[in-house]
Amino acid sequence: MLVLGIESSCDETGVALYDTEAGLLAHHLHSQIAMHAEYGGVVPELASRDHIRRVLPLTQATLDEAGRQLTDIDAIAYTAGPGLAGALLVGASVANALAFALGKPTIAVHHLEGHLLSPLLADPAPSFPFVALLVSGGHTQLMAVHGVGHYELLGETVDDAAGEAFDKSAKLLGLGYPGGPALSKLADQGDATRFKLPRPMLHSGDLEMSFSGLKTAVLNLVKEQSPLNETTTADICAAFQEAIVEVLVKKSLAALKQTGLKRLVIAGGVGANRQLRAALDDAARKRRFEVFYPPLSLCTDNGAMIAHAGAKRLAFAQAAGSFSIQPRWDLA
Ligand code: KG4
Ligand code: ZN
Repeated sequence: MLVLGIESSCDETGVALYDTEAGLLAHHLHSQIAMHAEYGGVVPELASRDHIRRVLPLTQATLDEAGRQLTDIDAIAYTAGPGLAGALLVGASVANALAFALGKPTIAVHHLEGHLLSPLLADPAPSFPFVALLVSGGHTQLMAVHGVGHYELLGETVDDAAGEAFDKSAKLLGLGYPGGPALSKLADQGDATRFKLPRPMLHSGDLEMSFSGLKTAVLNLVKEQSPLNETTTADICAAFQEAIVEVLVKKSLAALKQTGLKRLVIAGGVGANRQLRAALDDAARKRRFEVFYPPLSLCTDNGAMIAHAGAKRLAFAQAAGSFSIQPRWDLA
C-alpha cells in the first residue's frame, strides 16, 4: 500500500510517500523559518498562506522523485493536530480534496504519534515495547509505547517544553529564532562550569519536568552579565544546555527504571541535540539499555513521519470528505 503523508501543523510543509513493503520512497520539506525569523516567532497567518503555496509543488516533487503518480496512491495521511488551526486546515483540506478526487481514504494523524513512531524509520529500528522521550518545541513527554496506538503517558513538563526553553533562552541571548540549534552550537564552545543553573524538579520523585525556571535563570544571568561578550554568551549556553540535558537524561533513566523497559527512543526536534545524544549514549553503555534516534533529517517536523504513522494506522482510515482538525489534542 502506498501512503501519501502531508504535514502542515506549524512552520514546515512536509510531503512524503511511504510504501508498506518498500518503506520510505521520497520526502520533501519546505521550512518557513527564514520567513518567521524577522518576527521572532511563528506568525500563524503567514504560516497558513505559505503552506498553501508549497503543498502542491512539494507533492508533485515527491511523486516525481519516487517515479509514481497520484493515481498510484492508496491512502492519504495528514496531520490533524495538535498545531495551528489555519495551518492544519491547509494540509487537511488538500489531503481530503485529493482523496475525494481519487476515491481513496484519508488517515488523520496525531502529530506527536508521527514523532513517536519516527525512530521506526531508522535502521536498526526498535521493537515494542519502549520508553519514548518526546522533546519538541511544543511538547516534552515521557511515554511507554506498548505498540501502535497503545501509549501510556508517564510524565511531562508542567510548563515550557524543552525546545521552547531552548528557543526562549536563545532569544534572551540574542541568537534569533528558533535559536535551539544556534544555542547548542555555541554551547559546544563554552565552559559549562562557569555558571551554575538550576535543575528544576530533578528530585521531584516522579517523571514530571519543568523548564520555565531555567529560562528565568538565563534571563537573570543575561541582566547580571550585560553587556554580553562572546565568551560569556557561549558559557551561558553551555551551562543552560548542560542543565537541560541532565534533567532529560535523569528523567529518562527514571522512566526506564519505573517501567522495567530496556529500550529508549528519542523523538522530536530537540532529539537532534548532540550533547543530549552523547549523554544518552553514555548512560546506555553504562546501564545496559538500548537507545534509538530517528535519522537527524527526520527529528524535526517532516512529512515522512506522517506518511509512516499513517501507514501504521491504515486500519483506521476513513472515507474522505468528513474531515476535522484538532488544534488541541492529547495523545495519551
Ligand atoms: O519537533 P519540532 O520540529 O517541532 C515541534 O513539533 O515543536 O521541534 C522543534 C524544536 C525547536 O524548539 C528547536 O529549537 C529544537 O526543536 N531544536 C533543537 C535542536 N534542533 C532543533 N534544540 C536543541 N538542540 C538542537 N540541535
Ligand atoms: Zn513536531
